[in-house]
Amino acid sequence: MKRDEFSGFFGVLVATVGSAVGLGNLWRFPYLVGQNGGAAFILIYLAFVLIVCMPIIVSEFIIGRRTNANTVKAFQILAPGTPWSIVGIVGVVAALAILAFYTVVGGWTFDYLVRSVMYVFSKPDLSSLEQQFTQMVTSPVRPILWTILFMGVNAFIVMCGIKKGIEKYSRIMMPVLFVMVVMLVIRSLTLEGAREGLEFLFRPDFSKINTKVVLAALGQAFFSLSLGMGCLITYGSYIPKQENLTKLAFSTGIADTLFAILAGIAIMPAVFAFGISPEEGPGLVFIVLPRIFAQIPLGNVFAVIFFAILLIAAITSVISLMEVVTAYISERFTIKRKITVAIVSVFVTVCASFSSLSQGVLQEVKVFGKTIFDFFDHLSANILLPLGGLSIVIFIGWYLKKEVVYDEYTNQGTLKGTLFNACYFIIRYIAPVAIAVVFLDLILR
Ligand code: PFF
Repeated sequence: MKRDEFSGFFGVLVATVGSAVGLGNLWRFPYLVGQNGGAAFILIYLAFVLIVCMPIIVSEFIIGRRTNANTVKAFQILAPGTPWSIVGIVGVVAALAILAFYTVVGGWTFDYLVRSVMYVFSKPDLSSLEQQFTQMVTSPVRPILWTILFMGVNAFIVMCGIKKGIEKYSRIMMPVLFVMVVMLVIRSLTLEGAREGLEFLFRPDFSKINTKVVLAALGQAFFSLSLGMGCLITYGSYIPKQENLTKLAFSTGIADTLFAILAGIAIMPAVFAFGISPEEGPGLVFIVLPRIFAQIPLGNVFAVIFFAILLIAAITSVISLMEVVTAYISERFTIKRKITVAIVSVFVTVCASFSSLSQGVLQEVKVFGKTIFDFFDHLSANILLPLGGLSIVIFIGWYLKKEVVYDEYTNQGTLKGTLFNACYFIIRYIAPVAIAVVFLDLILR
């Protein structure tokens, strides 16, 4: 049977941008900007995306499209008889680890969307927003039920396949997402006192830059662009042969960054207008924003829009993570896609339930000194992604023959190969050093 593939440039783009734009942009990016000095952080982030990450996106696409295989098989095909396929396995494990906590946050988002729909008719009690959030996440049953529902939606989409599932729904969801983000940006910019927030975002204060800020920027760029765990290798394996990989990689990087900055513009002016510290941290989205929405004109409607945005962004990312695992298991063990998705979903839901419980009743259970939720987060973002990213650049830069890389980069010599030498140089020398430095810092911290 012919392997499924995306229908063309736009189809690939909405799917990869969908994967990239997620809670990382809307939840993690704004609070990192807040904690790391605003515009200076953004500038460093941009530099990393352009210089280090774009070539890595291309590399992952090359590995995937060259082999038309899942992330483990791809390494087996390109490096038969070597241990390189472990990199693929690490990717699958990383995907599962991210899913184990990300889907819990997806469940919270669902809960908050429904709440905000109800608040359109009645005002929330402002004094207890923080308590409400804590109560919800620590309760033993409620967040798990939301997580199950959230998983169900994702499972349905992945079961439908690449073209008729992931691509089809991304084509609908991504434009909606974009329009809603723009609406939110306009609302935020028209708030009185928005200026200060914009200055924070766009006027760099270089005295704020230190190694911690630089490292946070690179780590965030990796997470946000879904790099280092075979996600783009898997999506790459469904890219039609005639598409230009460099163009796709650049468009993905730019669109993801644009969304992150728009999210910053949507959130920071409101935060400043209400005199809240930009360093609020992870609670920003679930505690601070509902408070702001409750106090601005039409805020209740915008709250619904905001949580709908968050939900869509989370879904288009989770389906990409599920596809990494699904493609591997169904191709490795020749199991039908639908059955594989069902198995993966049940497994992820069980792991996610433990993460969810670790916010409350299982709080005292520690894995390497961390709660289960934090353990999955730390394991994936701080260990498996950088490790995977490092392996991928070494694989492309030092193991694969340059001619093979060039051949796939230029679509078998039919394209000019613009920027090939620059990309190759970065992959060989700059990217490995940059990732190694971040990695060392993360594990030594
Ligand atoms: N890029 C996603 C985000 O910014 O939320 C998270 C993610 C998705 C990471 C898919 C890795 C991945 F493979």
